[in-house]
Amino acid sequence: MKRLVSFIVIIAGALTCVLGQSTSESHQAFQPGEVWTDTDGVHINAHGGGILFHEGKYYWFGEHKTGGRTGNRAMVGVSCYSSTDLLNWKREGVALAVHEEGSGSDIEKGSVIERPKVIYNEKTGKFVMWFHLELKGQGYNAARTALATSDHPTGPYEFQKSLRPNPGTWPVNFEKSWKKKSITEKDLEGWSEEWKKEVAEGLFIRRDFHTGQMARDMTLYVDDDGKAYHIYSAEENLTLHIAELTDDYLGFTGKWAVIEPAGHNEAPAIFKQNDKYYLITSGCTGWDPNAARSFVADDLMGPWTSLGNPAVGEGADLTFDSQSTFIVPVQGKTDAFIFMADRWRPENAIDGRYVWLPIQMKEGRPVLEWQDSWDLSYFDK
Ligand code: DGJ
Repeated sequence: MKRLVSFIVIIAGALTCVLGQSTSESHQAFQPGEVWTDTDGVHINAHGGGILFHEGKYYWFGEHKTGGRTGNRAMVGVSCYSSTDLLNWKREGVALAVHEEGSGSDIEKGSVIERPKVIYNEKTGKFVMWFHLELKGQGYNAARTALATSDHPTGPYEFQKSLRPNPGTWPVNFEKSWKKKSITEKDLEGWSEEWKKEVAEGLFIRRDFHTGQMARDMTLYVDDDGKAYHIYSAEENLTLHIAELTDDYLGFTGKWAVIEPAGHNEAPAIFKQNDKYYLITSGCTGWDPNAARSFVADDLMGPWTSLGNPAVGEGADLTFDSQSTFIVPVQGKTDAFIFMADRWRPENAIDGRYVWLPIQMKEGRPVLEWQDSWDLSYFDK
């Protein structure tokens, strides 16, 4: 009898496992915040990610996290997944691998690699990945952007360089008199009104003028004319910068602008609709969520106008417990954009969740509403 019971338990267990796996393999709907399995039944590991659409396929690049708190450091590299429907993702492996521990490389194991984004350069045929890099053992002080390239969307990507953008150049939207100011941080009380005004008038831009500007949270954007832009949190995360990339996307042209000076924005994500550019960002509260912000502009170099918190309804004040990372234009549909965000789990980084929500446009503003479950037919309504 005992044997029979054990046998039944084993068979039931095996069946649950098989059935559980097969349902998790085929997704019919987005379920924000739930475990999202790839086609092998494993939770997708591509945090702080971005999507490239190339020759009929979507490619999702993101931070490969590991378990525990140290899992926020780059122990593996950048993951890549592919999909044709945005719901079911096949793991393509590690697109950019960290370099060996102790190698002294900028991207050695244990460094911090965040928010990787990939764009394709039509002229050179190269896939170009930029990401936020923090050098090993230096916390978040390095504040660098870094570049890797590949001949194939899924990689392998070869690390090229890390840098701070735009040394020796001023933003296009910067007053002449601010260039000559001599006031520095030590003359001011941090976070005072005067300090904020001075930040907006270039306190940190002048400080970092010769070394290049700080670059942390980031995204990339390719405009309709093929020109690409890098948008990043600079100036101690106080001001976003938008910088034009060279024609090969491998460097900066020196044309750049500040967005929302002293506005304290992170996690930039951008889309374009009807000739207007919309930016969704977050505030700066580490791994904790906060209220998102949104902005609109007719020109990428600004001026950008604040449109307030795009999230509405319950949970809107914490962006439904998530932080923006990218906005996906849905192929084959008009005006269909997906807000892509991370629900971080800093204590067990690999368990971080994904919050994908449809963007609605209401009275010229992007609006995000919570959905327990939704699919792309949402955009046909
Ligand atoms: C918030 C950023 O958006 C994340 O990418 C990460 O850098 C965390 N801060 C680290 O605290």
